[in-house]
Amino acid sequence: MSERFIYDLKRTHSCGQLGLQDEGSQVVLMGWSQRRRDHGGLIFVDLRDREGITQVVFNPEIDQGSHSEAHGIRSEFCLAVRGTVRRRPEGMANPNLVTGGIEVYVDHFEIMNPSKTPPFMLEDWIDVGENIRLKYRYLDIRRPEMYANLLLRHRAAAAARGFLNDQGFLEVETPFLTKSTPEGARDYLVPSRVSPGNFYALPQSPQLFKQLLMMGGVERYYQIVRCFRDEDLRADRQPEFTQVDLEMSFVGEEDVMALTEGLVAAIVKEATGRDMELPLPRMTYDQAIERYGLDAPDVRFGLELTDVVDLVAKAEFKLFATAAAKGMTVKAINGKQMATLSRKDLDDLTSYVADFGAKGLAWVKIKAGGEWQSPIAKFFTSEQQQAINERLEAAEGDILFFGADVPAVVHEALGRLRLELARRFDLRPEGELSFCWVTEFPLVEWDPEAKRWDAMHHPFTSPRDEDMELLSSDPGQVKARAYDLVLNGSEVGGGSIRIHRPDVQAQVLAALNISQEQAQEKFGFLLEALSYGAPPHGGLALGFDRLVAILAGEPSIREVIAFPKTQKASCPLTDAPSRVSREQLLELGLRLDQPK
Ligand code: AMO
Ligand code: AMP
Repeated sequence: MSERFIYDLKRTHSCGQLGLQDEGSQVVLMGWSQRRRDHGGLIFVDLRDREGITQVVFNPEIDQGSHSEAHGIRSEFCLAVRGTVRRRPEGMANPNLVTGGIEVYVDHFEIMNPSKTPPFMLEDWIDVGENIRLKYRYLDIRRPEMYANLLLRHRAAAAARGFLNDQGFLEVETPFLTKSTPEGARDYLVPSRVSPGNFYALPQSPQLFKQLLMMGGVERYYQIVRCFRDEDLRADRQPEFTQVDLEMSFVGEEDVMALTEGLVAAIVKEATGRDMELPLPRMTYDQAIERYGLDAPDVRFGLELTDVVDLVAKAEFKLFATAAAKGMTVKAINGKQMATLSRKDLDDLTSYVADFGAKGLAWVKIKAGGEWQSPIAKFFTSEQQQAINERLEAAEGDILFFGADVPAVVHEALGRLRLELARRFDLRPEGELSFCWVTEFPLVEWDPEAKRWDAMHHPFTSPRDEDMELLSSDPGQVKARAYDLVLNGSEVGGGSIRIHRPDVQAQVLAALNISQEQAQEKFGFLLEALSYGAPPHGGLALGFDRLVAILAGEPSIREVIAFPKTQKASCPLTDAPSRVSREQLLELGLRLDQPK
């Protein structure tokens, strides 16, 4: 070959660019062969790069050598071609393709690298197992859908940076090799070679360092930062994930929330082109639990929980009457026009809520005139039935679901049932973005196993001033100056105003039963920093993967992470985690305590 691509022939266009306006020009394209078709002596190849697909044609009359070599092209060969743009013949245009009006007649080409037969087809994509996709992630990323997700993520990050830069924030990096940060998950540990027997912890978030930056007078900090948490994985959780983390000095919750709304609006605008209506709606934690059962409510649909304990207290249905008498909770959901659910569906839903602790799921189908059809109908007088119908606005074709138990169980079970019903009946409008703030979280929650109060957010979150007196007498009643941002029922961010006074921090640690010695050992440096004129400060972190996944319309955050881990926290591509040699362990002063 006389010319060498790369050195002599520069790529002139992407594969998503050429159109009729380019007819007659000579172009150089580079990319991958998506498909080869032989047709009436001509060879057609769909050449793909990250921008799109262009049909290139090999004609023996133009270049005999290229034509015969083109017979060898297979899927995913890496190619460079030079040729002339021609209008496609009458009736051959492809309206589904940006470049569908033209094709490139090749006069010169090079196979830059052949490819083994790919383990899955990139065109006509049908779902293949995720393990295979992750093992060959570099091929998976060649698919336009994956590239689009990475592009969306990149643009969202750029929009976040741009917005925060304009607001006077400084991007500051904080250590990865550090001490444990108390966000409630297990730590990933890294052994130290130079101090045998000692370990770093990978940060669960930059929480402590960003507070120290406020004490350092930085005033406005942000970082798009990796966080590490060793917890059980789900569709919306990864062992390493990314936060848009920020902290501000001399602010209250209104300032942080307003700033965050601007930030999220900038990201949404960049990602979807849509303008968000601000300010975002808010509800308190108590309201969220009362109405939706969960602290990250999906407010795209109704199916709200309704208290009926007063209406069932006198019914002959023992279960409910007893629950009412014991001061437990009885709540109901009206499944509007969902009486079509079969016995099997109802059994499935009953076992579904059982996973969340519910001991059963009573139901009532509403017939003409509000008549009850249910195994439990006979235990309710018609007055009781009518009163319940009225409160739940029940009409023919509806189905009522009841939960009776301690509040935590009823709320969790009916809250989950609500989501499951919405899924089955397709009540979540595609493309809708429903944000809301949840505020006034409890400062602490009871851990029944450890029999102690734990910080609900983290131990540096400030209680409300007016609740300080309750801290020692009734900690469960204390509200925190904390707020979560929820999008379509998913917690996409959380933050708080922090404690900036050492005396208040000491009181909160005491309420959490963290001794002074423990506190000193774990985060003594932060407590000391508080005593050098720490400014009032607060902040928040967005779960960037979750936000981007929702904006991309993806069901799992793994779809918007280039190289995610599996549900077992492993990487099929690199085979991490993996064994290490004895020498490496010895060097670290470690010995494995497990059978070979
Ligand atoms: P928090 O623990 O609420 O707060 O985390 C902030 C946000 O990060 C996301 N997130 C996750 N995303 C993917 N995988 C995970 N394993 C995971 N865990 C959390 C969530 C969550 O809302 N330092 C505080 C922030 C602050 O107070 O400023 C913090 O980390 O979307
Ligand atoms: P049983 O009397 O046990 O046959 O229950 C009658 C109905 O009440 C069944 O539909 C059960 O699923 C339901 N049920 C049982 N326990 C509860 C509970 N704690 N809350 C709501 N419904 C329940």
